[in-house]
Amino acid sequence: MSAIITIAQQKGGAGKTTLAVQLATAMRQAGRSVAVVDIDPQASLTAWMRLREHEAREAAEIRFSMVGGWRLGVELDRLKRECERIIVDSPPHAESDAKGAIKAADLVLVPCQPSPLDIWASKSTLDIAIKDGKPAALVLNRVPPRGKSFDEALQSIAERGYEALSARLGNRQAFITSLGRGLGVVESEPRSAAAHEVEALLAEVETQLR
Ligand SMILES: Nc1ncnc2c1ncn2[C@@H]1O[C@H](COP(=O)(O)OP(=O)(O)O)[C@@H](O)[C@H]1O
Ligand SMILES: [Mg+2]
Repeated sequence: MSAIITIAQQKGGAGKTTLAVQLATAMRQAGRSVAVVDIDPQASLTAWMRLREHEAREAAEIRFSMVGGWRLGVELDRLKRECERIIVDSPPHAESDAKGAIKAADLVLVPCQPSPLDIWASKSTLDIAIKDGKPAALVLNRVPPRGKSFDEALQSIAERGYEALSARLGNRQAFITSLGRGLGVVESEPRSAAAHEVEALLAEVETQLR
């Protein structure tokens, strides 16, 4: 069964593209056929893909598509017939293309740094997903070692009744370095703490898809 996972969050810099890359490469490494779809005009995922094609030629194949507007639905339908996992990286707003990608999704992941600003900004994306009847969950990103402000963030998320995955990504240089090489951490540093976090995230995402 194929599935579309849309990564959405109206706040820029929350980690959408990072999450898209890390999840896509982990799914590919787990033996899935994977496509990534960039619907953000900033085209960060596209830049990563170009790098992968040129500097990481031995890396496993991931299909790629940059699309927007009315062609998005058609393209997602086509990819869903051809690939097992489709990861959509969306722009930092909750308007038409982002809404379309949420509508098409089997699961919506909302990266969120453990800060009030990110938690507040998550609401509009979660609301759209809920309205469309789509399962949606926050993915805590750039999580610091435990501390008071992190506990407060967890409490704020719980008070709002937001769903959050138990798997989280730490604030780690390995995520940044891998992107700059056209790779994911499971490929560039498979034994790192970052890679273990991504593997745990993948396991939880696959459970959610079942
Ligand atoms: N877990 C992380 N650890 C370290 N740096 C991160 C992490 N997640 C994101 N970043 C960095 O934060 C910035 C914004 O991340 P990005 O994935 O581009 O966010 P978005 O796509 O939501 O705008 C980038 O410079 C990225 O390298
Ligand atoms: Mg981005």
